[in-house]
Amino acid sequence: MARDTIAILDFGSSNNSGIARIIRKAGVYSEIVAHDITLAELAQMPGLKGLIFNGGPNRAYEGQMLEAMPEVLDCPLPKLAVGCNFNVSGENLSAWDGAEADVINRFINTSGIERNWSMEGFIEDQIAALRKQIGDKKVLLALSGGVDSSVVAALLLRAIGDQLTCVHVNHGLLRKGEPEQVVRVFKREMGANLIYVDAVDRFLDKLAGVADPEQKRKIIGAEFIRVFEEEARKLDDISFLGQGTIYPDILESGTKTAKNIKSHHNVGGLPSDLQFELVEPLKQLFKDEVRAVGEALGLPHSMVYRQPFPGPGLGVRCVGAITRERLEQVRESDAILREEFENAHLDQTVWQYFTIVPDIRSTGVRNHERCWERPVIIRAVNTQDAITASIEEIPYPVLAKIVNRIVNEVPGVNRVLYDLSPKPVATIEWE
Ligand code: XMP
Repeated sequence: MARDTIAILDFGSSNNSGIARIIRKAGVYSEIVAHDITLAELAQMPGLKGLIFNGGPNRAYEGQMLEAMPEVLDCPLPKLAVGCNFNVSGENLSAWDGAEADVINRFINTSGIERNWSMEGFIEDQIAALRKQIGDKKVLLALSGGVDSSVVAALLLRAIGDQLTCVHVNHGLLRKGEPEQVVRVFKREMGANLIYVDAVDRFLDKLAGVADPEQKRKIIGAEFIRVFEEEARKLDDISFLGQGTIYPDILESGTKTAKNIKSHHNVGGLPSDLQFELVEPLKQLFKDEVRAVGEALGLPHSMVYRQPFPGPGLGVRCVGAITRERLEQVRESDAILREEFENAHLDQTVWQYFTIVPDIRSTGVRNHERCWERPVIIRAVNTQDAITASIEEIPYPVLAKIVNRIVNEVPGVNRVLYDLSPKPVATIEWE
């Protein structure tokens, strides 16, 4: 079913995704497109009913003013132009009665745009689209156990049943106890065809000595695909690769106007000789929408609201070249942090929390002797869409307990620091 759609023309503003989310919350599908999109390209968007020109100071880009195509400015579609005074960010979206939401709601009403975007409708459309795309062929899915791949698995299971084979790769960069849990939950509860691959040594050998974050991401992404190709060769006729790519991954990997912030491993890191066609049914969705789809598909709340975990896993939290020793420090300190957050019920209110171990050491005193050990950094953030993020105030007694446990239980760690930097300027992950 073609649903009514509003296109947001991207003139380099940082609030494009905030506007897109406000429109979707108003029940209308929205997409961010390049500022110089042509009329022919707009004609490819089914159900397009309105255009929003999102300007602002960044409209001057590399010495030039970004301009829309005259043919687009002249077309008969309803149009709304907004400037940077338009204060929409991930944080103030909950202020749903704000002036910005009013402007958008009035635009929707006066333009006769139908509010027919819902998660149920999305699922219905996607199931039909997946069946059409896949036919009677088979799909291999990278099932990490995170929210995105779990929701993709559920959607694909609903659409194509046992034409789906899930592969869980243990690349050695997963959280403590996670590979075991993924196998238990997905095999038993979701009844998926699930293959478990132990690739720990293989990944860590490839990553040995590699300090550059983008290089690490690319190695992890490329190695992932190789593992899937090997698994696919053992199976009959796999044609498609399922992926949990979501909209912020696409936006942050750089649109025509926006500069690349960092490549996400499931977008920028794909090898050029990829032998599968991709199935990415969540690539139009923001994170909160992915969770809503998961709930609508009947996934357990604990799985759908589990905190996000990056594809490259603990690899991007073991800053610089990964060593097994530092990786264990990340894994053990993360397990302690998660346990104490759950004890203090902070897991209900904090969106993402984890630890990082940088490749530096400092002096300390342990058992009356000088020690030369590493610090663990705690990161705990709240966000709506992972595009902006604020720092959580953690009660001091909880922090004190975590510090005490980490320096006493994690070998080779003598300090714990708390990262107070919001996004922007800092990203959520350290690499
Ligand atoms: P940043 O660090 O970009 O993170 O502020 C935003 C959100 O994305 C997650 N993240 C990733 N997820 N592959 C992923 O699948 C990646 O390469 C990647 N890098 C960051 C991060 O954990 C946060 O939730």
